[in-house]
Amino acid sequence: MGKLSVFLFVLSFYPIVNAGSGSHSLWALATYISGETPFPEFTVVVMLDDVQVGYYDSNMKQSVYRGQHINDKAEDEEVQDGALVFGDMYQSMKNRLFKLKHHFNLTEGVQVQKRIAGCEMLDNGEPALVMFKNVFNTVSVDYAIYYNMTHFTYDAGQLLQGWDGKRKEVEINNLMEVYLPICIKSLKRFLKREKNIVMRKVPPRLRLIKKEVSGGFQVSCLAFGFYPRHINMTLLRDGQPVAEQELTGGEVLPSGDGTYQLRKSLEVSTEELKKRHNYTCTASHLSLDNKLDVSWESGAERVHLSTLSALLVMLLGFILFSIFICVKRRWSNTVDAKVSVEMNLSSDSET
Ligand SMILES: *[C@@H]1O[C@H](CO)[C@@H](O)[C@H](O)[C@H]1NC(C)=O
Ligand SMILES: *[C@@H]1O[C@H](CO)[C@@H](O)[C@H](O)[C@H]1NC(C)=O
Ligand SMILES: *[C@@H]1O[C@H](CO)[C@@H](O)[C@H](O)[C@H]1NC(C)=O
Ligand SMILES: *[C@@H]1O[C@H](CO)[C@@H](O)[C@H](O)[C@H]1NC(C)=O
Repeated sequence: MGKLSVFLFVLSFYPIVNAGSGSHSLWALATYISGETPFPEFTVVVMLDDVQVGYYDSNMKQSVYRGQHINDKAEDEEVQDGALVFGDMYQSMKNRLFKLKHHFNLTEGVQVQKRIAGCEMLDNGEPALVMFKNVFNTVSVDYAIYYNMTHFTYDAGQLLQGWDGKRKEVEINNLMEVYLPICIKSLKRFLKREKNIVMRKVPPRLRLIKKEVSGGFQVSCLAFGFYPRHINMTLLRDGQPVAEQELTGGEVLPSGDGTYQLRKSLEVSTEELKKRHNYTCTASHLSLDNKLDVSWESGAERVHLSTLSALLVMLLGFILFSIFICVKRRWSNTVDAKVSVEMNLSSDSET
């Protein structure tokens, strides 16, 4: 998976971020709200890949791990890091929102500042990315900075004045000297603790589903029950990949049990069906040494159906025949019995 698509995921605030099979990431998703709401002014959710590992808010001013307070002495550092980073975020987001409100003359109502901040690390322990990004009222990018270990990328946003040289220097310094080391350290710690979850490999199950729709068939390729979320799945027509734009679906979705699923569907017209194409669903996943394949030859279905109905007719015939035999036998049995009784009777009367 390219770095760009990772950014797109992150940028859309979708809290499922895992750069690829060879890396892990830690993200803080922070929200600062001004105005009257039932929510705390400031909240942070901490995600390790796609697993929520922490929470912090301005009411309790202490980070909790998976909903539990950490009292262990060894974890003091974690609590301190949390208090430092989240306390700092709280202040800077508060200031930022104050400036924005002033700038846009927004004295009334609820205003929201969101921030995503975090890092990504390769499996070899090397940092791969550190970034943060602000969004005002969930629509406008305020400012953002990314560093992928070779290049800085900035997005100053269009809301407030851009970065001046001094300001930029301070931000870069904070990012590199404070946030990156803390983030990588925390990522390693969480990874160790959560390895049974985030490092597990669950292979996909694969199905090719044919459904009759108006005008033909819908052929769906479905992979489900897999972890991690990265999967390559393609539908092949006679061994050639079907173009993505012919397919619908294609979004990896959580199944709700900690695994993922992916569906891609293709409409096949009745005309097309007659060409007897061979459709194959093929998937590769980190958990698999070889590709998984399921095939279907369209049109062959008809043959199967007629074979099946012929079998059914034969089976039905057999059942009817058996019933007939049974009934006949029972009937003839009673007749035999009657006859033998009569014979007995007659023999009795004879004696
Ligand atoms: C801000 O709002 C106040 C009162 O609603 C108004 O008097 C003032 O002109 C506004 N300023 C700007 C810059 O829009
Ligand atoms: C970092 O980003 C720059 C610019 O987008 C790109 O040219 C470079 O290849 C990236 N480096 C890595 C290690 O991904
Ligand atoms: C369809 O193609 C796959 C691979 O391309 C092959 O393994 C399979 O035997 C083919 N099925 C039919 C019915 O031709
Ligand atoms: C998916 O395909 C890409 C490009 O061919 C490859 O780099 C990546 O490792 C594959 N991922 C999986 C999970 O097989």
